[in-house]
Amino acid sequence: MSSSPSANGRVLTATVDLPDSHTLKVYRKHGGYEALETALGKSPDEVIDLVKRSGLRGRGGAGFPTGTKWGFVPKSKDKPKYLCVNADESEPGAFKDRLLCAKDPHQVIEGTLIGAYAIGASRAYIYIRGEFAHECRVMQAAIDEARAAKLIGKNILGKGFDCEVTMYLGAGAYICGEETALIESIEGQRGEPRLKPPFPAVVGLFGCPTVVNNVETLACVPHIVKRGAEWFAGIGPERNTGPKLYGLSGHVNKPGVYEAPMGISLRQLIDEYGGGVPGGRPVKGVIPGGASCPVLRGDEIDISMDFDALTRAGSLFGTGTPVVMDDSVCMVRAAWITARFFAHESCGQCTPCREGCGWMQRILWKIETGNGVERDLDILLSVTDQIEGNTICALGDAAAWPTRGFAKKFRDEFLQHIREKRCPLGNGSLH
Ligand SMILES: Cc1cc2nc3c(=O)[nH]c(=O)nc-3n(C[C@H](O)[C@H](O)[C@H](O)COP(=O)(O)O)c2cc1C
Ligand code: SF4
Repeated sequence: MSSSPSANGRVLTATVDLPDSHTLKVYRKHGGYEALETALGKSPDEVIDLVKRSGLRGRGGAGFPTGTKWGFVPKSKDKPKYLCVNADESEPGAFKDRLLCAKDPHQVIEGTLIGAYAIGASRAYIYIRGEFAHECRVMQAAIDEARAAKLIGKNILGKGFDCEVTMYLGAGAYICGEETALIESIEGQRGEPRLKPPFPAVVGLFGCPTVVNNVETLACVPHIVKRGAEWFAGIGPERNTGPKLYGLSGHVNKPGVYEAPMGISLRQLIDEYGGGVPGGRPVKGVIPGGASCPVLRGDEIDISMDFDALTRAGSLFGTGTPVVMDDSVCMVRAAWITARFFAHESCGQCTPCREGCGWMQRILWKIETGNGVERDLDILLSVTDQIEGNTICALGDAAAWPTRGFAKKFRDEFLQHIREKRCPLGNGSLH
Protein backbone atom coordinates (compact mmCIF):
# COMPACT_ATOMS: atom_id res chain seq x y z
CA MET A 1 0.00 0.00 0.00
CA SER A 2 1.72 3.13 -1.16
CA SER A 3 0.30 5.90 0.96
CA SER A 4 2.99 8.41 0.29
CA PRO A 5 2.53 10.19 -3.01
CA SER A 6 3.58 7.69 -5.69
CA ALA A 7 5.77 8.56 -8.65
CA ASN A 8 2.83 7.89 -10.97
CA GLY A 9 0.53 10.14 -8.87
CA ARG A 10 -1.90 7.30 -8.23
CA VAL A 11 -3.20 6.17 -4.87
CA LEU A 12 -5.39 3.09 -5.25
CA THR A 13 -3.46 1.72 -8.19
CA ALA A 14 0.00 3.06 -7.31
CA THR A 15 1.67 -0.35 -7.39
CA VAL A 16 -0.50 -2.42 -9.72
CA ASP A 17 2.03 -2.27 -12.56
CA LEU A 18 4.84 -3.68 -10.43
CA PRO A 19 5.80 -7.34 -10.73
CA ASP A 20 4.17 -9.44 -7.98
CA SER A 21 2.08 -6.46 -6.82
CA HIS A 22 -0.38 -8.96 -5.34
CA THR A 23 2.12 -10.38 -2.85
CA LEU A 24 2.56 -9.45 0.79
CA LYS A 25 6.25 -8.79 0.19
CA VAL A 26 5.62 -6.09 -2.41
CA TYR A 27 2.69 -4.67 -0.45
CA ARG A 28 4.74 -4.33 2.72
CA LYS A 29 7.70 -2.87 0.82
CA HIS A 30 5.42 0.03 -0.08
CA GLY A 31 4.11 0.64 3.42
CA GLY A 32 1.41 -2.03 3.48
CA TYR A 33 -0.32 -2.78 6.80
CA GLU A 34 1.21 0.32 8.43
CA ALA A 35 -2.26 1.92 8.35
CA LEU A 36 -3.68 -1.11 10.16
CA GLU A 37 -1.13 -0.64 12.92
CA THR A 38 -2.03 3.06 13.14
CA ALA A 39 -5.75 2.29 13.20
CA LEU A 40 -5.35 -0.29 15.97
CA GLY A 41 -3.64 2.43 18.04
CA LYS A 42 -6.85 4.48 17.86
CA SER A 43 -10.25 3.72 19.32
CA PRO A 44 -12.86 2.30 16.92
CA ASP A 45 -14.85 5.54 17.23
CA GLU A 46 -11.80 7.57 16.27
CA VAL A 47 -11.43 5.47 13.12
CA ILE A 48 -15.12 5.95 12.27
CA ASP A 49 -14.76 9.70 12.87
CA LEU A 50 -11.73 9.83 10.56
CA VAL A 51 -13.63 8.09 7.77
CA LYS A 52 -16.64 10.37 8.31
CA ARG A 53 -14.45 13.48 8.04
CA SER A 54 -12.79 12.17 4.87
CA GLY A 55 -16.16 12.32 3.13
CA LEU A 56 -15.65 8.83 1.66
CA ARG A 57 -18.82 7.70 -0.11
CA GLY A 58 -19.39 4.06 -1.00
CA ARG A 59 -18.03 3.01 -4.39
CA GLY A 60 -20.55 0.17 -4.82
CA GLY A 61 -23.12 2.34 -6.57
CA ALA A 62 -25.28 4.23 -4.10
CA GLY A 63 -22.62 6.60 -2.77
CA PHE A 64 -23.70 6.27 0.85
CA PRO A 65 -21.22 7.88 3.30
CA THR A 66 -19.06 5.06 4.66
CA GLY A 67 -18.33 6.51 8.11
CA THR A 68 -22.04 7.14 8.68
CA LYS A 69 -22.83 3.53 7.72
CA TRP A 70 -20.22 2.23 10.14
CA GLY A 71 -21.67 4.50 12.84
CA PHE A 72 -25.09 2.79 12.50
CA VAL A 73 -23.74 -0.47 13.93
CA PRO A 74 -24.87 -0.77 17.57
CA LYS A 75 -22.09 -0.57 20.15
CA SER A 76 -23.59 -3.32 22.32
CA LYS A 77 -21.57 -6.53 22.56
CA ASP A 78 -24.45 -9.00 22.93
CA LYS A 79 -24.14 -10.25 19.34
CA PRO A 80 -21.25 -10.83 16.96
CA LYS A 81 -20.83 -8.27 14.17
CA TYR A 82 -19.79 -8.89 10.61
CA LEU A 83 -18.18 -7.02 7.78
CA CYS A 84 -18.94 -8.29 4.27
CA VAL A 85 -16.80 -7.17 1.38
CA ASN A 86 -18.83 -6.92 -1.79
CA ALA A 87 -16.60 -8.20 -4.60
CA ASP A 88 -19.51 -9.55 -6.65
CA GLU A 89 -19.08 -6.92 -9.40
CA SER A 90 -21.52 -8.19 -12.03
CA GLU A 91 -23.10 -5.07 -13.51
CA PRO A 92 -22.47 -4.69 -17.24
CA GLY A 93 -19.75 -2.07 -17.67
CA ALA A 94 -18.24 -2.50 -14.19
CA PHE A 95 -14.81 -4.13 -13.87
CA LYS A 96 -12.80 -1.93 -11.50
CA ASP A 97 -13.01 -4.03 -8.31
CA ARG A 98 -11.68 -6.95 -10.28
CA LEU A 99 -8.41 -5.08 -10.83
CA LEU A 100 -7.96 -4.45 -7.12
CA CYS A 101 -8.68 -8.10 -6.29
CA ALA A 102 -6.17 -9.33 -8.88
CA LYS A 103 -3.40 -6.80 -8.46
CA ASP A 104 -3.62 -5.45 -4.92
CA PRO A 105 -5.61 -7.86 -2.74
CA HIS A 106 -3.72 -6.88 0.41
CA GLN A 107 -4.95 -3.30 0.05
CA VAL A 108 -8.50 -4.69 0.16
CA ILE A 109 -7.68 -6.97 3.10
CA GLU A 110 -6.04 -4.13 5.05
CA GLY A 111 -9.11 -1.91 4.48
CA THR A 112 -11.31 -4.82 5.53
CA LEU A 113 -9.41 -5.34 8.78
CA ILE A 114 -9.58 -1.63 9.60
CA GLY A 115 -13.31 -1.58 8.83
CA ALA A 116 -13.90 -4.68 10.95
CA TYR A 117 -12.01 -3.09 13.84
CA ALA A 118 -14.03 0.12 13.53
CA ILE A 119 -17.40 -1.64 13.72
CA GLY A 120 -16.34 -4.23 16.30
CA ALA A 121 -16.43 -7.25 13.98
CA SER A 122 -14.18 -10.22 14.53
CA ARG A 123 -15.16 -11.92 11.27
CA ALA A 124 -15.18 -10.60 7.73
CA TYR A 125 -16.37 -12.30 4.57
CA ILE A 126 -15.07 -11.42 1.14
CA TYR A 127 -17.95 -12.30 -1.20
CA ILE A 128 -16.33 -12.55 -4.60
CA ARG A 129 -17.84 -13.22 -7.99
CA GLY A 130 -17.21 -16.92 -8.67
CA GLU A 131 -16.49 -16.35 -12.36
CA PHE A 132 -13.40 -14.34 -11.34
CA ALA A 133 -11.40 -17.59 -11.14
CA HIS A 134 -8.00 -15.89 -11.22
CA GLU A 135 -9.01 -13.17 -8.76
CA CYS A 136 -10.44 -15.81 -6.39
CA ARG A 137 -7.14 -17.67 -6.40
CA VAL A 138 -5.13 -14.48 -5.86
CA MET A 139 -7.41 -13.30 -3.06
CA GLN A 140 -7.31 -16.65 -1.27
CA ALA A 141 -3.51 -16.73 -1.53
CA ALA A 142 -3.35 -13.20 -0.10
CA ILE A 143 -5.63 -14.17 2.80
CA ASP A 144 -3.41 -17.19 3.49
CA GLU A 145 -0.26 -15.05 3.36
CA ALA A 146 -1.76 -12.47 5.71
CA ARG A 147 -2.86 -15.20 8.12
CA ALA A 148 0.63 -16.76 8.09
CA ALA A 149 2.07 -13.32 8.89
CA LYS A 150 -0.39 -13.02 11.83
CA LEU A 151 -2.21 -10.12 10.17
CA ILE A 152 -5.39 -12.20 10.24
CA GLY A 153 -6.45 -14.27 13.25
CA LYS A 154 -5.87 -13.75 16.96
CA ASN A 155 -4.20 -10.71 18.53
CA ILE A 156 -3.35 -9.00 15.24
CA LEU A 157 -0.08 -7.05 15.41
CA GLY A 158 -0.07 -7.74 19.14
CA LYS A 159 -2.82 -5.16 19.65
CA GLY A 160 -5.46 -7.50 21.07
CA PHE A 161 -7.69 -7.36 17.96
CA ASP A 162 -8.98 -10.70 16.62
CA CYS A 163 -10.35 -11.01 13.11
CA GLU A 164 -10.87 -13.93 10.75
CA VAL A 165 -11.29 -13.27 7.03
CA THR A 166 -13.08 -15.85 4.88
CA MET A 167 -13.64 -15.80 1.16
CA TYR A 168 -17.05 -16.84 -0.18
CA LEU A 169 -17.65 -17.46 -3.88
CA GLY A 170 -20.79 -16.24 -5.65
CA ALA A 171 -22.46 -18.58 -8.13
CA GLY A 172 -23.24 -16.33 -11.06
CA ALA A 173 -26.24 -14.26 -9.98
CA TYR A 174 -26.07 -10.47 -10.37
CA ILE A 175 -28.67 -10.08 -7.62
CA CYS A 176 -26.23 -11.48 -5.06
CA GLY A 177 -24.37 -8.15 -5.26
CA GLU A 178 -27.38 -6.53 -3.59
CA GLU A 179 -26.35 -6.39 0.03
CA THR A 180 -29.18 -8.38 1.61
CA ALA A 181 -29.15 -11.00 -1.16
CA LEU A 182 -25.41 -11.28 -0.56
CA ILE A 183 -26.12 -11.90 3.12
CA GLU A 184 -28.72 -14.55 2.27
CA SER A 185 -26.22 -16.19 -0.07
CA ILE A 186 -23.50 -16.37 2.61
CA GLU A 187 -26.10 -17.91 4.93
CA GLY A 188 -26.61 -20.64 2.33
CA GLN A 189 -30.05 -19.44 1.20
CA ARG A 190 -31.26 -18.43 -2.25
CA GLY A 191 -29.91 -15.00 -3.16
CA GLU A 192 -33.16 -13.11 -2.64
CA PRO A 193 -33.11 -9.58 -1.21
CA ARG A 194 -34.74 -8.90 2.15
CA LEU A 195 -37.27 -6.22 2.92
CA LYS A 196 -35.68 -3.23 4.64
CA PRO A 197 -35.95 -2.11 7.42
CA PRO A 198 -34.47 -3.68 9.41
CA PHE A 199 -31.22 -2.62 7.77
CA PRO A 200 -28.18 -4.94 7.85
CA ALA A 201 -26.36 -2.61 10.27
CA VAL A 202 -28.88 -3.81 12.87
CA VAL A 203 -30.13 -7.19 11.57
CA GLY A 204 -27.76 -8.59 8.95
CA LEU A 205 -25.78 -11.78 8.57
CA PHE A 206 -27.11 -14.56 10.85
CA GLY A 207 -29.40 -11.92 12.38
CA CYS A 208 -26.44 -9.89 13.64
CA PRO A 209 -25.26 -6.33 12.92
CA THR A 210 -23.49 -6.31 9.55
CA VAL A 211 -21.87 -3.81 7.25
CA VAL A 212 -21.57 -4.53 3.54
CA ASN A 213 -18.93 -2.47 1.76
CA ASN A 214 -17.62 -2.39 -1.75
CA VAL A 215 -14.03 -3.48 -2.54
CA GLU A 216 -12.93 -0.02 -3.71
CA THR A 217 -14.54 1.67 -0.71
CA LEU A 218 -12.46 -0.45 1.64
CA ALA A 219 -9.32 0.01 -0.46
CA CYS A 220 -9.60 3.77 0.20
CA VAL A 221 -9.59 3.30 3.98
CA PRO A 222 -5.88 2.52 4.64
CA HIS A 223 -4.95 5.68 2.72
CA ILE A 224 -7.34 7.79 4.79
CA VAL A 225 -5.85 6.38 7.99
CA LYS A 226 -2.32 6.99 6.79
CA ARG A 227 -2.62 10.34 5.05
CA GLY A 228 -5.49 11.84 6.97
CA ALA A 229 -9.13 12.75 6.46
CA GLU A 230 -8.26 16.25 5.26
CA TRP A 231 -5.98 14.95 2.53
CA PHE A 232 -8.76 12.69 1.21
CA ALA A 233 -11.41 15.41 1.57
CA GLY A 234 -9.18 17.76 -0.41
CA ILE A 235 -9.42 15.60 -3.56
CA GLY A 236 -12.43 16.19 -5.82
CA PRO A 237 -15.51 18.38 -5.47
CA GLU A 238 -17.27 19.02 -2.17
CA ARG A 239 -19.20 15.97 -0.90
CA ASN A 240 -17.60 13.87 -3.65
CA THR A 241 -14.13 13.26 -2.37
CA GLY A 242 -11.14 11.06 -2.98
CA PRO A 243 -9.43 9.17 -5.76
CA LYS A 244 -11.64 6.97 -7.94
CA LEU A 245 -11.26 4.04 -10.29
CA TYR A 246 -13.09 4.51 -13.58
CA GLY A 247 -13.70 1.43 -15.71
CA LEU A 248 -13.97 2.79 -19.23
CA SER A 249 -15.38 0.60 -22.01
CA GLY A 250 -17.27 0.62 -25.30
CA HIS A 251 -16.19 2.79 -28.20
CA VAL A 252 -12.90 4.18 -26.92
CA ASN A 253 -9.44 3.55 -28.29
CA LYS A 254 -8.01 2.51 -24.93
CA PRO A 255 -10.60 0.83 -22.74
CA GLY A 256 -9.45 -0.02 -19.23
CA VAL A 257 -9.44 0.92 -15.57
CA TYR A 258 -8.10 4.40 -14.91
CA GLU A 259 -7.51 6.17 -11.63
CA ALA A 260 -8.39 9.87 -11.50
CA PRO A 261 -9.90 12.17 -8.88
CA MET A 262 -13.63 12.25 -8.29
CA GLY A 263 -15.06 15.05 -10.39
CA ILE A 264 -12.95 14.58 -13.53
CA SER A 265 -14.99 15.52 -16.59
CA LEU A 266 -16.51 12.68 -18.55
CA ARG A 267 -15.14 14.18 -21.76
CA GLN A 268 -11.61 14.24 -20.34
CA LEU A 269 -11.98 10.63 -19.28
CA ILE A 270 -13.03 9.60 -22.78
CA ASP A 271 -10.58 11.76 -24.73
CA GLU A 272 -7.47 11.86 -22.56
CA TYR A 273 -7.60 8.55 -20.70
CA GLY A 274 -9.53 6.51 -23.27
CA GLY A 275 -7.76 8.03 -26.28
CA GLY A 276 -11.03 9.19 -27.87
CA VAL A 277 -13.46 7.30 -30.05
CA PRO A 278 -12.04 4.99 -32.76
CA GLY A 279 -12.00 6.64 -36.18
CA GLY A 280 -12.87 9.98 -34.55
CA ARG A 281 -16.56 9.12 -34.76
CA PRO A 282 -18.94 11.19 -32.65
CA VAL A 283 -20.05 10.06 -29.20
CA LYS A 284 -23.74 9.32 -29.46
CA GLY A 285 -24.40 8.32 -25.88
CA VAL A 286 -22.65 7.31 -22.68
CA ILE A 287 -23.92 5.17 -19.84
CA PRO A 288 -21.90 6.90 -17.13
CA GLY A 289 -21.73 4.38 -14.31
CA GLY A 290 -22.84 0.86 -15.19
CA ALA A 291 -25.96 -0.47 -16.92
CA SER A 292 -28.38 0.80 -14.27
CA CYS A 293 -27.52 4.46 -14.94
CA PRO A 294 -29.63 6.43 -17.43
CA VAL A 295 -27.81 7.25 -20.65
CA LEU A 296 -26.38 10.70 -21.39
CA ARG A 297 -26.42 12.13 -24.92
CA GLY A 298 -23.15 12.91 -26.65
CA ASP A 299 -23.76 16.64 -26.07
CA GLU A 300 -23.98 16.08 -22.31
CA ILE A 301 -20.50 14.74 -21.60
CA ASP A 302 -18.97 17.97 -20.34
CA ILE A 303 -20.02 16.90 -16.89
CA SER A 304 -18.24 16.26 -13.62
CA MET A 305 -18.02 12.57 -12.82
CA ASP A 306 -19.45 12.69 -9.33
CA PHE A 307 -22.54 11.53 -7.48
CA ASP A 308 -24.24 14.93 -7.24
CA ALA A 309 -23.55 16.29 -10.74
CA LEU A 310 -24.82 13.15 -12.45
CA THR A 311 -27.93 13.03 -10.28
CA ARG A 312 -28.63 16.66 -11.18
CA ALA A 313 -28.27 15.72 -14.86
CA GLY A 314 -30.95 13.05 -14.46
CA SER A 315 -28.51 10.15 -14.47
CA LEU A 316 -26.38 8.44 -11.85
CA PHE A 317 -22.71 8.10 -11.00
CA GLY A 318 -23.20 4.43 -10.05
CA THR A 319 -19.86 2.69 -9.95
CA GLY A 320 -18.15 5.32 -12.15
CA THR A 321 -17.73 2.96 -15.08
CA PRO A 322 -18.74 4.67 -18.34
CA VAL A 323 -19.76 2.73 -21.45
CA VAL A 324 -19.23 4.87 -24.55
CA MET A 325 -21.37 4.42 -27.67
CA ASP A 326 -20.57 6.00 -31.01
CA ASP A 327 -23.03 6.85 -33.79
CA SER A 328 -23.09 3.28 -35.10
CA VAL A 329 -25.08 2.16 -32.08
CA CYS A 330 -28.84 1.74 -32.24
CA MET A 331 -30.20 3.12 -29.00
CA VAL A 332 -33.32 0.96 -29.11
CA ARG A 333 -31.13 -2.11 -29.32
CA ALA A 334 -28.90 -0.81 -26.52
CA ALA A 335 -32.01 -0.32 -24.39
CA TRP A 336 -33.24 -3.81 -25.26
CA ILE A 337 -29.92 -5.42 -24.36
CA THR A 338 -29.96 -3.60 -21.03
CA ALA A 339 -33.56 -4.60 -20.31
CA ARG A 340 -32.82 -8.20 -21.28
CA PHE A 341 -30.02 -8.29 -18.73
CA PHE A 342 -32.23 -7.06 -15.90
CA ALA A 343 -35.11 -9.34 -16.89
CA HIS A 344 -32.72 -12.27 -16.76
CA GLU A 345 -31.30 -11.25 -13.37
CA SER A 346 -34.57 -10.34 -11.60
CA CYS A 347 -34.99 -12.77 -8.69
CA GLY A 348 -38.75 -12.78 -9.28
CA GLN A 349 -39.91 -11.98 -5.75
CA CYS A 350 -41.78 -8.76 -6.66
CA THR A 351 -44.44 -8.62 -9.36
CA PRO A 352 -43.52 -5.14 -10.71
CA CYS A 353 -39.91 -6.19 -11.27
CA ARG A 354 -40.54 -9.77 -12.43
CA GLU A 355 -43.33 -8.87 -14.86
CA GLY A 356 -42.22 -5.31 -15.66
CA CYS A 357 -38.70 -6.30 -16.72
CA GLY A 358 -40.19 -8.91 -19.07
CA TRP A 359 -42.58 -6.36 -20.54
CA MET A 360 -39.84 -3.79 -21.09
CA GLN A 361 -37.71 -6.37 -22.86
CA ARG A 362 -40.59 -7.49 -25.09
CA ILE A 363 -41.78 -3.98 -26.01
CA LEU A 364 -38.24 -2.85 -26.81
CA TRP A 365 -37.72 -5.87 -29.04
CA LYS A 366 -41.01 -5.18 -30.78
CA ILE A 367 -39.90 -1.61 -31.54
CA GLU A 368 -36.39 -2.66 -32.55
CA THR A 369 -37.68 -5.20 -35.03
CA GLY A 370 -40.04 -2.72 -36.69
CA ASN A 371 -43.23 -4.08 -35.17
CA GLY A 372 -43.87 -1.27 -32.69
CA VAL A 373 -46.67 1.27 -32.64
CA GLU A 374 -46.53 4.75 -31.06
CA ARG A 375 -48.65 3.63 -28.13
CA ASP A 376 -45.88 1.16 -27.19
CA LEU A 377 -43.69 4.07 -26.15
CA ASP A 378 -46.34 5.26 -23.67
CA ILE A 379 -46.82 1.73 -22.38
CA LEU A 380 -43.05 1.35 -22.00
CA LEU A 381 -42.78 4.53 -19.93
CA SER A 382 -45.80 3.56 -17.87
CA VAL A 383 -44.18 0.18 -17.08
CA THR A 384 -41.06 1.99 -15.82
CA ASP A 385 -43.27 4.18 -13.60
CA GLN A 386 -44.96 1.13 -12.17
CA ILE A 387 -41.68 -0.58 -11.32
CA GLU A 388 -39.87 2.40 -9.79
CA GLY A 389 -40.19 2.55 -6.02
CA ASN A 390 -42.50 -0.47 -5.86
CA THR A 391 -40.05 -3.29 -5.31
CA ILE A 392 -38.14 -4.93 -2.47
CA CYS A 393 -34.70 -4.04 -3.77
CA ALA A 394 -33.14 -1.53 -6.11
CA LEU A 395 -32.83 -3.95 -9.04
CA GLY A 396 -36.31 -2.92 -10.13
CA ASP A 397 -35.32 0.76 -10.16
CA ALA A 398 -32.03 -0.15 -11.79
CA ALA A 399 -33.97 -1.78 -14.62
CA ALA A 400 -36.58 0.97 -15.00
CA TRP A 401 -34.18 3.94 -15.04
CA PRO A 402 -32.09 3.02 -18.10
CA THR A 403 -35.16 2.05 -20.16
CA ARG A 404 -36.78 5.38 -19.35
CA GLY A 405 -33.51 7.19 -20.04
CA PHE A 406 -33.08 5.65 -23.50
CA ALA A 407 -36.74 6.20 -24.41
CA LYS A 408 -36.71 9.85 -23.35
CA LYS A 409 -33.23 10.91 -24.47
CA PHE A 410 -33.53 9.17 -27.85
CA ARG A 411 -37.27 9.47 -28.40
CA ASP A 412 -36.81 10.51 -32.02
CA GLU A 413 -34.86 7.35 -32.77
CA PHE A 414 -37.56 5.23 -31.12
CA LEU A 415 -40.22 7.01 -33.21
CA GLN A 416 -38.15 6.53 -36.35
CA HIS A 417 -38.14 2.78 -35.71
CA ILE A 418 -41.91 2.82 -35.32
CA ARG A 419 -42.65 5.02 -38.36
CA GLU A 420 -40.19 3.34 -40.71
CA LYS A 421 -41.08 -0.12 -39.32
CA ARG A 422 -37.41 -1.09 -39.17
CA CYS A 423 -34.18 -0.33 -37.36
CA PRO A 424 -32.59 2.55 -39.29
CA LEU A 425 -29.14 1.26 -38.30
CA GLY A 426 -29.69 -2.31 -39.37
CA ASN A 427 -28.85 -4.65 -36.54
CA GLY A 428 -26.90 -2.10 -34.51
CA SER A 429 -23.53 -3.06 -33.14
CA LEU A 430 -24.13 -3.87 -29.49
CA HIS A 431 -24.84 -7.55 -28.98
C1 LIG B 1 -29.00 -5.55 -8.00
C2 LIG B 1 -27.87 -4.94 -7.25
C3 LIG B 1 -26.57 -5.41 -7.47
C4 LIG B 1 -25.51 -4.85 -6.76
N1 LIG B 1 -24.25 -5.31 -7.03
C5 LIG B 1 -23.21 -4.79 -6.32
C6 LIG B 1 -21.88 -5.27 -6.55
O1 LIG B 1 -21.64 -6.16 -7.36
N2 LIG B 1 -20.88 -4.70 -5.82
C7 LIG B 1 -21.11 -3.72 -4.88
O2 LIG B 1 -20.19 -3.27 -4.21
N3 LIG B 1 -22.36 -3.25 -4.66
C8 LIG B 1 -23.40 -3.77 -5.35
N4 LIG B 1 -24.67 -3.31 -5.09
C9 LIG B 1 -24.85 -2.33 -4.02
C10 LIG B 1 -24.90 -3.05 -2.65
O3 LIG B 1 -26.26 -3.40 -2.39
C11 LIG B 1 -24.41 -2.17 -1.52
O4 LIG B 1 -25.08 -0.95 -1.56
C12 LIG B 1 -22.90 -1.90 -1.59
O5 LIG B 1 -22.17 -3.09 -1.61
C13 LIG B 1 -22.50 -1.08 -0.38
O6 LIG B 1 -21.14 -0.79 -0.42
P1 LIG B 1 -20.60 0.70 -0.36
O7 LIG B 1 -21.40 1.41 0.71
O8 LIG B 1 -19.17 0.54 0.02
O9 LIG B 1 -20.81 1.29 -1.70
C14 LIG B 1 -25.75 -3.83 -5.80
C15 LIG B 1 -27.06 -3.37 -5.60
C16 LIG B 1 -28.09 -3.91 -6.32
C17 LIG B 1 -29.47 -3.40 -6.09
S1 SF4 C 1 -36.81 -5.83 -7.22
FE1 SF4 C 1 -36.52 -7.58 -8.58
S2 SF4 C 1 -34.56 -8.44 -7.98
FE2 SF4 C 1 -35.21 -7.08 -6.28
S3 SF4 C 1 -36.32 -8.41 -4.86
FE3 SF4 C 1 -37.83 -7.62 -6.28
S4 SF4 C 1 -37.98 -9.16 -7.94
FE4 SF4 C 1 -36.09 -9.55 -6.80
